[in-house]
Amino acid sequence: MCGIIGYSGSSEEVVDILLEGLSKLEYRGYDSAGVAFIDKKKNKIQIEKKEGKLNNLVMHLEDKKIKSSIGIGHTRWATHGVPTDKNSHPHYSEKRDVALVHNGIVENYAELKKDLLAKGINFNSDTDSEVVAQLFSVVYNGDLLESLDKVLKEVRGTYALAIIHEDFPDKMLCAKKHSPLIIGIGEDQNFVASDVSAILKYTRDVIFLEDGDRAIVEKNSVKIYNSKNKEVKREMKKVEWNYEQASKGGYEHFMIKEIEEQPEIVQKTLDIYTNEEKDIKFDEQLEGINFHNINKIYIVACGTAYYTGLQGQYFLKEVLGIDIFTDIASEFRYNEPIIDDKTLAIFVSQSGETLDTLLSLKYAKEKGAKTLAISNVLGSTISRIADNCIYTLAGPEISVASTKAYSSQVLVLYLLTLYIASKLGKINEAKYIKYIEDIELLKNNMEEIISNKNNIHEVAKKIKNTRNGFYLGRGIDEKVAREGSLKMKEINYIHTEALPAGELKHGSIALIEEGVLVVAISTIPSMAEKILSNIKEVKARGAYVVGLATKDMNIETVGDEVIEISETGELLTPLLAVIALQYLAYYTSVEKGLDVDKPRNLAKSVTVE
Ligand code: AGP
Repeated sequence: MCGIIGYSGSSEEVVDILLEGLSKLEYRGYDSAGVAFIDKKKNKIQIEKKEGKLNNLVMHLEDKKIKSSIGIGHTRWATHGVPTDKNSHPHYSEKRDVALVHNGIVENYAELKKDLLAKGINFNSDTDSEVVAQLFSVVYNGDLLESLDKVLKEVRGTYALAIIHEDFPDKMLCAKKHSPLIIGIGEDQNFVASDVSAILKYTRDVIFLEDGDRAIVEKNSVKIYNSKNKEVKREMKKVEWNYEQASKGGYEHFMIKEIEEQPEIVQKTLDIYTNEEKDIKFDEQLEGINFHNINKIYIVACGTAYYTGLQGQYFLKEVLGIDIFTDIASEFRYNEPIIDDKTLAIFVSQSGETLDTLLSLKYAKEKGAKTLAISNVLGSTISRIADNCIYTLAGPEISVASTKAYSSQVLVLYLLTLYIASKLGKINEAKYIKYIEDIELLKNNMEEIISNKNNIHEVAKKIKNTRNGFYLGRGIDEKVAREGSLKMKEINYIHTEALPAGELKHGSIALIEEGVLVVAISTIPSMAEKILSNIKEVKARGAYVVGLATKDMNIETVGDEVIEISETGELLTPLLAVIALQYLAYYTSVEKGLDVDKPRNLAKSVTVE
């Protein structure tokens, strides 16, 4: 899941434009970065690339005086070939007549490479992507589109490609299959990019390419062709987000900026999706779904989005009293779920591009399910392929560790639950109003945690040297524990495991010894005593316990550290607990001096299986 960008325009500072865009795409992968452009003087393709974070490339290019008006750029998340200069993108063809950047996986690259090697082609890297550059050069017949078509007929897998050829110093080629790719329409300049954040500085007018599309992009023209090479029109959309939103806004890290945007997002979600009468306005988004004909609901997603699904499952079960199934998208289709036209399958994805979730959506659709996407990115593939879509209103989420997307997804699932319940007449007026009012409470209580963040910072200072730990909870708190544990793992590289507190004594308690961290979550009054005794069990074996609880849970009697949160209604208190856990992970990472926004080995949107 790399980030790619391309530019064709009147500016001669193409490298600056590409580097600016790559800085906005770096959350997609930061194993290496590179640019290719056609040098105006020499009229030859030149590639400059460096292993490691984008800054290595910026430093490498610092003193180079480059004039060019066409170029492509790439930031890499390595799949084939370890992160080195030679495996960095862009890739040349052997004749250096073609340069290419690729996001995705060429599944049959070994066979294609074997054929090309047999034709005497010498390769420069171990990557799958270089095969496409070499193949393009071999089949090239002077017609860009025809040559691309020949290449794409041979290539199996997923791709977003941007290609330049020395014969066409004003044309850029691109193609899309499964991996995201957009075209940005500017004045006297046009762009291709993996997502809008890379080009927001220059335009908010974008075209979302469909699978199979290819395009020729020049500074004043964009021609799009479908998989049969027939010219097609694609709708241009204006993106709401602006450049500032996709910038740090004075914060040290995107993660803390995004954590502290959550109260505002709660208010925005309320303002946009409810009216004065407290009705939930999902009619347009859910058009065509008759909930009386639905007898089974599935929620499918990956990572943090899956954990929001677990909260959604809890809401739907509690309020509707029907069976709700959740599944991890990379397992879903292989678990052969029983799906039919009475099934509503909900796919949660911040990026809307996660391949496992996308393929699960296609699978459920083929099985006849009604499909609903909950996504944060306008025009993302998942939001376009699903029958219905409810957008979360979190704005661009740049930090790899998802925070504000989590709460905005949970909130949409919460509203969806209340919407379905009122459609089915399964909730009385008083209860409905209370649940809506709890959202207003949530906003205030989130602000309270934000104002107490220094207390959590102090706890983080004490646990920063932990090597491993457990996150414990009961009922819905156990689902919260999973998200808390994921955040701690992602940005601190501390191995933590989330467990139902009652399960510990059936084995994992053997790992408890002096200094092992235990984060215990207790927000459900009926479970308070049970979780207290579980905490005593681990304390007795030397664990260092951080208790996260609402008032009157008595956790201060057993915890080494206590993080208190305010009661926020029956269903939403767990969501509040997550904000505190986001801060705990964030401050621990800051104390460890780690790269909070770009943790090792991760990328923001996983567009490979
Ligand atoms: C969360 O912090 C991670 N970035 C990751 O688990 C993420 O939630 C997962 O990859 C799903 O991404 P999506 O919501 O964009 O589909």
